Amino acid sequence: MHWFDTIDSTNTRLKEMARQGAPHGTVVIAGQQTGGRGRMGRSFSSAGGGVYLSVLLRPKASARELMHLTCAAAVAMCEAVEAAAGLRPRVKWINDLVAGKRKLGGILTELGFGAGGSIEYAVVGIGINCCQKSGDFPGELQSIATSLAMEGAPCLTEKLAAEMVLALERMDRRLLAEQDAIMEVYRSRCVTLGAQVQVIGSGAVRQGKALDIDREGALLVEYADASREWVASGEVSVRGMYGYL
Ligand code: BTN
Repeated sequence: MHWFDTIDSTNTRLKEMARQGAPHGTVVIAGQQTGGRGRMGRSFSSAGGGVYLSVLLRPKASARELMHLTCAAAVAMCEAVEAAAGLRPRVKWINDLVAGKRKLGGILTELGFGAGGSIEYAVVGIGINCCQKSGDFPGELQSIATSLAMEGAPCLTEKLAAEMVLALERMDRRLLAEQDAIMEVYRSRCVTLGAQVQVIGSGAVRQGKALDIDREGALLVEYADASREWVASGEVSVRGMYGYL
């Protein structure tokens, strides 16, 4: 386990370590990131007061068998937050932890491939807002983001980090053998299921309703014209959250 007060990005650092042969289970934790990264090339606000943690996995599995990894990490992080702070977060598909209608944290999973396309490593990076006050977030996030402290929950960063590591260890043991059970919990935690959604993909924005999530984490959306689509990646906004009215 490698602790840093400040780092550019725990995911970036751990990927470098993975390429240099770091073992399964290596963890990088930071109190602050100067270049925190989110999904779809976005930045992730990483001021002091949050927990920024990445774990390196070297699973003996194909990319297909790991499609549910981000969902499994989301379930694990809900359990960690609950154990550390007594607050029961939910998940906004696919990788956001939410409290009420606001973002409490996010997950970024990155895979490294070897020759022949086999998986060499997976880096799962998680940021959870713990002790930040509203003013610690950039202006554009102030109506979207929350933290454990802002929700009135205890913000014990070291306890949260410890629970995150324990939950990731449990997730690693169950990941392949208990996929269906993990995904059942994911569905029960997911605020996107049953909600009106906006799917933003390949230049088009379409409105629909989220009906289901399959065992690999894809989201089934039914559009106004009654057509249905399994959405496996991209941006899906939930009506009533993050400024989508
Ligand atoms: C998202 O909200 O799109 C995902 C955010 C993931 C942020 C975490 S913080 C620890 C790790 N290091 C990073 O640079 N990103 C992830």
